[in-house]
Amino acid sequence: MKPRVLVTKRIYPSAVEYLRQHVDAEYHESDDGYGAEQLLEHLTGKQAVVSQLTDKFSADVIAALPDLKVISNVAVGYDNIDIAAATQRRIVVTNTPDVLTDTTADFAFTLLMATARRLVEADKYLRVGKWTQWRIDLLTGHDIHHATLGILGMGRIGQTLARRARGFEMRAIYSDVQRAAPELERELQLEYLPFDSVLEQSDFISVHVPLLAATRHLLGAEQFARMKKNAILINTSRGPVVDEAALADALAAGEIAGAGLDVFEREPQVEPRLLDMDNVVLAPHIASASVDTRTKMCVMAAENCVTALAGTRPPNLVNTAVFE
Ligand code: DGY
Repeated sequence: MKPRVLVTKRIYPSAVEYLRQHVDAEYHESDDGYGAEQLLEHLTGKQAVVSQLTDKFSADVIAALPDLKVISNVAVGYDNIDIAAATQRRIVVTNTPDVLTDTTADFAFTLLMATARRLVEADKYLRVGKWTQWRIDLLTGHDIHHATLGILGMGRIGQTLARRARGFEMRAIYSDVQRAAPELERELQLEYLPFDSVLEQSDFISVHVPLLAATRHLLGAEQFARMKKNAILINTSRGPVVDEAALADALAAGEIAGAGLDVFEREPQVEPRLLDMDNVVLAPHIASASVDTRTKMCVMAAENCVTALAGTRPPNLVNTAVFE
């Protein structure tokens, strides 16, 4: 008998086809995920789930699913899953790294450029017919070339952003809990600095840390107060890394110059004050959203799921302790 797998939300068809070849898949072909109760109902008796970041696997949910052996998340982030609880139950958790690195870094740079050069504001200005003449200071923004880019978190996406920044001859400084290898620092001309120094010296600050207890509200009132008045914050990691209310306060007070945000504390809700600010560019969590990348993420999650169900260590294993 084939293992039973739930796909909680719509994914790209090639991944569904792959799953159907290998497992007995129940496919919830909808963009609306299940609520906690429905999730439990549909997962009862299933050995695996192909989940998305909107599906919450708390310790309670995990405890209520004795048959569950694999959680294959279609995302590089896995803060929607209680990893300790899954590991204790020896449930294999997998994610989809690497395939989204370039696309996500591209989007972080897109947000940086759009915010610095006021692209969204300019587009709106023109469309509503406000453009009547060329003016010396019309929609003047911030230079990107030769500016200082502060990268918080020098993982795969942080490194790729640093590569993009080299093309703009930016100075790249970074902080992380672990310093990068000297070869990488040399190759990307990276300067490793204490966290506060990165905040104080950067013209642009881009966040690339995972959401953990230690990184929740990593950036709040105190940190915004340290930043330059011309600083622009870019966040494509996880919303709760930034205290959104404190960010709105800092922007309103002119403590920093702008923000480009793809992620929010309570998605899909956004701090209402941010919606009214012209110096803020907002996107609905789409940093990895190219057709190619999202397709690859879905196929990778399907493959992770099938591999783990076969009892083999999957390539994108999150909780390595399960195979030790
Ligand atoms: C992830 O993968 O964690 C992103 O937030 C969605 O691509």
